[in-house]
Amino acid sequence: MKVQVEKITPVLGGLVSGVDLGQPLSKDQHAEIEQALHDHQVLFFRDQKITEDQHRDFGALFGPLHIHPIYPRSDAAPEVMILDTALNDLRDNAVWHTDVSVEETPPLGSILVARKLPPVGGDTLWSSATAAYEGLSEPLKQMLDGMKATHDIAKSFPAERFGADEASRERLDQIKRANRPFSHPVIRTHPATGKKAIYVNEAFTTRIEGLDAAASESLLALLYRQIGLPEYSLRWKWRVGDVAMWDNRITQHYAVDDYRPQHRIMHRVTIIGERPV
Ligand code: SIN
Repeated sequence: MKVQVEKITPVLGGLVSGVDLGQPLSKDQHAEIEQALHDHQVLFFRDQKITEDQHRDFGALFGPLHIHPIYPRSDAAPEVMILDTALNDLRDNAVWHTDVSVEETPPLGSILVARKLPPVGGDTLWSSATAAYEGLSEPLKQMLDGMKATHDIAKSFPAERFGADEASRERLDQIKRANRPFSHPVIRTHPATGKKAIYVNEAFTTRIEGLDAAASESLLALLYRQIGLPEYSLRWKWRVGDVAMWDNRITQHYAVDDYRPQHRIMHRVTIIGERPV
């Protein structure tokens, strides 16, 4: 059966049908999903019954998988990262971000599966960083092209929340030593489509290089506002069994933190990408 995709908004999002991710994908299906990701930036698959192994294997079709230095992992498949409100305080995802942009070769994409949801709330928003870039004025685009910004894991994982005791503080320090701040272009170009996208995010970016602190802060605030505009974004209401797959190079997402003390469990597989240019 051919993969079908229905557009969700004019700028991003595709609802995919005709695919069972619990079955091995044909070469054609794989290529169609990759093309759909280039066309729609974030894809949604409803009513999928996939195990953790199948989740990992689906992700591995698109590239090597990342293992998160901080979040818990599945025992069955360590490449499956567990976002469970009973295990971690997940407020760091309630901010517009791209996943682990602190890496030298940050993820090209991520695949999220809804395992347990609150009765209401816990939606996730995605924004198109290409549409947000295209919406900037020409003089601003020209100024940003060629600029670089620093991304730092310490910004997203502060000791107040991730270093509850001596052992976890020590582990966090070790992680910070092993993951030094990294520099990436403020505007990156998608390797397949050639489209330009804003690549600074509120979770990890600390400074636009070459600007003084006040100018960097003002410019970052302007770009974060642009990313969060409703015109460039969509809001997904999860059902258990939904799978979302996004291009992490040209989108940002925001996990809405409005459901505590209800329990929410999501599993994520993260696909390593190339060095941003
Ligand atoms: C994430 O930021 O990768 C997780 C999003 C979510 O839990 O909805």
